[in-house]
Amino acid sequence: MKRLDFCEDFLKGSEASLYDLFCDHGKLGEKALQKGHKVTFNDKRSPLISHLKERFGGHPKAFFSDDLAQSITLERDAVVFLLGVGGHLMINCLESWQSSDQLKGRVFVAIPTYYSLELRLFLRSLKAKVLKEGFAWEKKRGYHCYAFHFDDRGELLEPFSLNFWKKIYHEEKGGERYLKLMVKNLKNKKEKTSFEVKIYEELQVLLA
Ligand SMILES: C[S@@+](CC[C@H](N)C(=O)[O-])C[C@H]1O[C@@H](n2cnc3c(N)ncnc32)[C@H](O)[C@@H]1O
Repeated sequence: MKRLDFCEDFLKGSEASLYDLFCDHGKLGEKALQKGHKVTFNDKRSPLISHLKERFGGHPKAFFSDDLAQSITLERDAVVFLLGVGGHLMINCLESWQSSDQLKGRVFVAIPTYYSLELRLFLRSLKAKVLKEGFAWEKKRGYHCYAFHFDDRGELLEPFSLNFWKKIYHEEKGGERYLKLMVKNLKNKKEKTSFEVKIYEELQVLLA
């Protein structure tokens, strides 16, 4: 599965407004526009946004922002895609939206490039509920993909599920490589929390 395949479920051509944050060349937003969504393309690099305006500027449902993602205003009922940056930046964005009361009533799809565990611990502290979870393999790189929201319904998002990773290890292309990298990173981390020590030990058993 590719990252865009994971996102497909949230591109069903509904009335929902979508935010393609950190959009770079805007591949995801372009697909969403084709499906009939209202799309806001956001990236802090103004030349990129100018280029996207040239490409899609005539489209009635295309909107553009070169603000920092942290300071963007999110419409209610929107689906917010956060792809292609690290978990720490995502945490920073979520903190900022939380302070302006912009978490409830939105759906978020996050596919961090790294620091996924840190992001998930943070999400747990905010009592995020999981909507969907998966694994993508793209250009020899693995990605943990998840969608979540902050409304009352649903199950709390687990920071780590050994059963989930067992399945990925056995069934998904690239799963073993991703987990080996996770173990290596945890091993090299000088100061591990007790949570990280537990994960490290569980993964070592799985990979043995
Ligand atoms: C690697 S690209 C991600 C491209 C695409 N989303 C993907 O996943 O393939 C990361 C982009 O994030 C943008 N970016 C980094 N920090 C940002 C911020 N705080 N607000 C908005 N854009 C940011 C960069 O300018 C860059 O274009």
